[in-house]
Amino acid sequence: MTLVIDRIGVLVTNDPARGEGPLGVVRDAAVVCDGDRVIAVERAGVAADERLDVDGGCVLPGFVDSHTHLVFAGDRASEFVARMAGADYSTGGIRTTVDATRQASDDALRRLARQRWFEAVSTGTTHVEIKSGYGLDAHHEARCLRLAQELTDDTTFLGLHVVPSHMTADPDGFVREVVFETLPACAPRSRWIDVFCERGAFDVDQCRTVLDAGRAAGLGLKVHANQLGQGPGVTLAVEMGAASADHCTHLSAADVDALASSQTVATLLPAADFSTRQPYPDGRRLLDAGATVALATNCNPGSSYTTSMPLCLTLAVRELHMTIEEALRAATLGGASALRREDIGRIRPGARADLQILDAPSYEHLVYRLGAPLTRCVIVGGRVAFQRQP
Ligand code: NIG
Repeated sequence: MTLVIDRIGVLVTNDPARGEGPLGVVRDAAVVCDGDRVIAVERAGVAADERLDVDGGCVLPGFVDSHTHLVFAGDRASEFVARMAGADYSTGGIRTTVDATRQASDDALRRLARQRWFEAVSTGTTHVEIKSGYGLDAHHEARCLRLAQELTDDTTFLGLHVVPSHMTADPDGFVREVVFETLPACAPRSRWIDVFCERGAFDVDQCRTVLDAGRAAGLGLKVHANQLGQGPGVTLAVEMGAASADHCTHLSAADVDALASSQTVATLLPAADFSTRQPYPDGRRLLDAGATVALATNCNPGSSYTTSMPLCLTLAVRELHMTIEEALRAATLGGASALRREDIGRIRPGARADLQILDAPSYEHLVYRLGAPLTRCVIVGGRVAFQRQP
């Protein structure tokens, strides 16, 4: 069964060989899909079994949100309110969410995660990575990953997030438990392993131990790095060949150079910096140095309770000094690179049919019309996953 998305005014393909500029923009276009794949990018007016007439609107690849923690229970609004009044972000708050998540039933967690997934889709997201990290033991971590697998094939075992309350006197004992008990239970449900390398979380040796064990178990590597201050996280990520170093809020010149001369993507999470009243990462400097940059929401109840990629684009342009084109690429192709995938984040034959149709004549409106709900329709794997009611 073929589907044509027809009479597209402005189509962003992210394939410079196919159209204008770095976004590969094609005008008066049509995209033909067969099942879950794109099979052709054509001039408008192509025949197919089904037709979706966009009437001159703008179509772009769905957002790839490469850093989320969608499976959790409870909220921490009181921490957010306190921060807005001047309090600092504390990693200890993670334990509040661990307690709420452990107490929630599978059905309750599933319902909450699905609500957040649908909320994300309704603003143009078509693919998410989901981390565990609110279970902290083999049973609860594996359970969260099993629920995450219902929504994505990019699941991440966040082995080192925080030391559980009953082990604060023995963090190395916790690291051993992660390596010998939790990882074996979680590896079959994960594509990635992640660690929180930060003062107040885990040191570089503890992180390296867990990443080594994850790699030996066949997982790709990710690092929460340089979120709350300068530190060894980015160096560790680059040295170990991690797919991404996430946050990158506080970077030294050496960190920027290291990222620029590596395959490690700098994943920037500006909604977290907004919600924790941190400075913003210097996206401009990273791009000018030649680093690959991704933008993601970091949706979680502690530091960034949003699923909105358009909000992240807006912050990236206004506060990270990225152009709209750079922000859009980072939110689509950049996310795909952070997940080492070639089948998403672009519109070309063979790619997954993941696209968003805007109620706007061009992609610039995503930032220009700040906060406006511009998503008209979202297609995930060739099927309509969201359609705004007229
Ligand atoms: O990416 N940095 C570690 N993890 C999350 C915060 C989690 C929380 O506070 O619940 C983050 O910001």
